[in-house]
Amino acid sequence: MRLLITNIKQLCQVEIADGNKTRVSGRDMAVLPSIDNAWLIVESGRIHSFGEMRSLPETNADEVINADGCLVLPTWCDSHTHLVFAAPRDGEFVDRIKGRSYEEIARNGGGILNSARRLNKMSEQELYDQSLERLHNVMAQGTGAIEIKSGYGLCLEGELKMLRVIRRLKETSGIPVKASFLAAHAYPIEYKENKEAYIKLIIDEMLPVVAGEGLADYMDVFCEEGFFGVPATERLLEAGWKYGLKPKIHANQLHYSGGVQVGVKHNAISVDHLECVSEAEIAALKTGNTMPTLLPGAAFFLGMHYQPARKIIDAGLPVCLASDYNPGSCPSGNIPLLLSIACTQLKMTPEEAINAVTINGAAALELEMEMGTIKVGKKANLIITKKAPSLAYIPYDYGNSPILRVIFS
Ligand code: NIG
Ligand code: FE
Repeated sequence: MRLLITNIKQLCQVEIADGNKTRVSGRDMAVLPSIDNAWLIVESGRIHSFGEMRSLPETNADEVINADGCLVLPTWCDSHTHLVFAAPRDGEFVDRIKGRSYEEIARNGGGILNSARRLNKMSEQELYDQSLERLHNVMAQGTGAIEIKSGYGLCLEGELKMLRVIRRLKETSGIPVKASFLAAHAYPIEYKENKEAYIKLIIDEMLPVVAGEGLADYMDVFCEEGFFGVPATERLLEAGWKYGLKPKIHANQLHYSGGVQVGVKHNAISVDHLECVSEAEIAALKTGNTMPTLLPGAAFFLGMHYQPARKIIDAGLPVCLASDYNPGSCPSGNIPLLLSIACTQLKMTPEEAINAVTINGAAALELEMEMGTIKVGKKANLIITKKAPSLAYIPYDYGNSPILRVIFS
């Protein structure tokens, strides 16, 4: 199957030089290489070739798309979601409007525990059907690779049910899906007075089964005051590593939890959230290769202060953006809307924001050799936008979908 796209107003995020671009950091984040008035050929699901219209070769194609006035980009790589869940939490949303905080709701058995109660009552098939619908929705908004976490089971059966659903989504959706094991998301009520027993349950009973069945790529921990502290996080990450599960953790969402430092120390692929970042976190990030991943959708929805993206980029570090799609803190996996929030609230430029959800998102999924840029040989998951005057128009036109068509290969 050969697809030819012609008259592309701007082919964005191209990679032409030899070598591999694996992530962009600091000042380089402001650069999004592109070709004006371009063509692109996809063959057998891979990017075959591309260039300027005046160099378009004579070629036969099974399908030709005239993208006159449109932009073409690589699909988004959403490296942090909790897309498998059983029910919305709109009641808590109203409680928060009336003044109760996210932490207060969680302390009183709501929040993650509320989601766990609902999930454990739902059949695997129904959970799969609902989750597939959500996945299809975000794919229609341009997501072409995704990470999905467990963490609403909080018991062996529930966690396995979630991870099996994620595996089925991986098999049926046709896009790359990575799974993170997040049993350390909250302490179930029955372990409230014996937290050590829950940590032991995760390490001694859940992890061997999850790893044995090959159900997870990553080990995640909600490292936060009132949830899992640094010593527990360290034990969990070390246990995950023994089974080959690399860390990818929730850090510094509500407080300076030490989560960034512990993630870097244990060679986490990414540390995610980062509402609370001081010089100490920046210094830690500079010593390693751990990707700082910001989730401004959660800060938006919880009405919290935003992540200091400028401080991180200006320190020469990379920034990744991800949705955090989940029923509590961010019930949306809409990346175009996330880009608008990143530009208006985090003061990222459109180029920086798009780098953050393409090549840096791919890096946070360990898919940087496959996705994240328009490069010959890479997987041809592509976004064709509606007619747009510029790249900046994507985050500018907020609340409206920029998508004309998404190509999944
Ligand atoms: O990333 N903060 C921890 N976990 C999720 C929220 C989970 C929930 O509220 O259901 C997050 O924001
Ligand atoms: Fe999250």
